[in-house]
Amino acid sequence: MAPISLSIRKATPADLPAVLALVRSAYRGESSRAGWTTEAGLVDDQRIDETGLLAKINEPLGAVLVAEDEAGDILACCEVLKQSDTLGYFGLFAVNPLRQAGGIGRTVLTAAEEYAKQTWGIREMEMSVIWTREELIQYYIRRGYTRTEKTKPFPYAELVGGKALRDDLYFSILIKAL
Ligand SMILES: CC(C)(COP(=O)(O)OP(=O)(O)OC[C@H]1O[C@@H](n2cnc3c(N)ncnc32)[C@H](O)[C@@H]1OP(=O)(O)O)[C@@H](O)C(=O)NCCC(=O)NCCS
Repeated sequence: MAPISLSIRKATPADLPAVLALVRSAYRGESSRAGWTTEAGLVDDQRIDETGLLAKINEPLGAVLVAEDEAGDILACCEVLKQSDTLGYFGLFAVNPLRQAGGIGRTVLTAAEEYAKQTWGIREMEMSVIWTREELIQYYIRRGYTRTEKTKPFPYAELVGGKALRDDLYFSILIKAL
């Protein structure tokens, strides 16, 4: 596959509809099954709503980053958060399911780590992954993350317009020194 030219920038409220559609299509539902990893078999909701996404876009100690192709189409996104003077958080990571496994995710993850280092001086990046998603955990391990003993509860009570398909979900916390 030819290398793709991406420009990565901080999202603004004007990007909300495109980012919302991207996240929903990548994480859950039938569209997400076109990608190589999905939560479709674990959770049947919409992942995030307009209010939640707008809060992330406007978060003073964070940023939603978007990756656009040459036509200006948003192919990928993620969020980065400053959790403390040294610790960052990476999440809301999504690549258009029809464009996955071509290196876009790797480019966005690297850019997000760089953004957190340059913007806030972050030295360690944390992320949370549903514990059953071993293929995704292996992907992050290949990017330099390690599993920790820490876990985080799954937000069963805060799902958006749907429900979980299992009752044993929680997040494993991964970490990487930047
Ligand atoms: C996770 C995600 C952002 C990665 O984006 P991407 O553009 O596909 O990522 P890349 O192209 O950089 O890497 C694809 C990787 O998948 C691997 N892969 C491809 N098909 C695979 C399969 N069937 N099983 C396991 N791994 C596979 C490739 O080997 C490659 O890893 P490598 O570079 O270490 O060899 C994307 O899959 C996505 O949007 N998933 C749905 C949302 C989600 O789960 N987000 C993360 C929540 S924590």
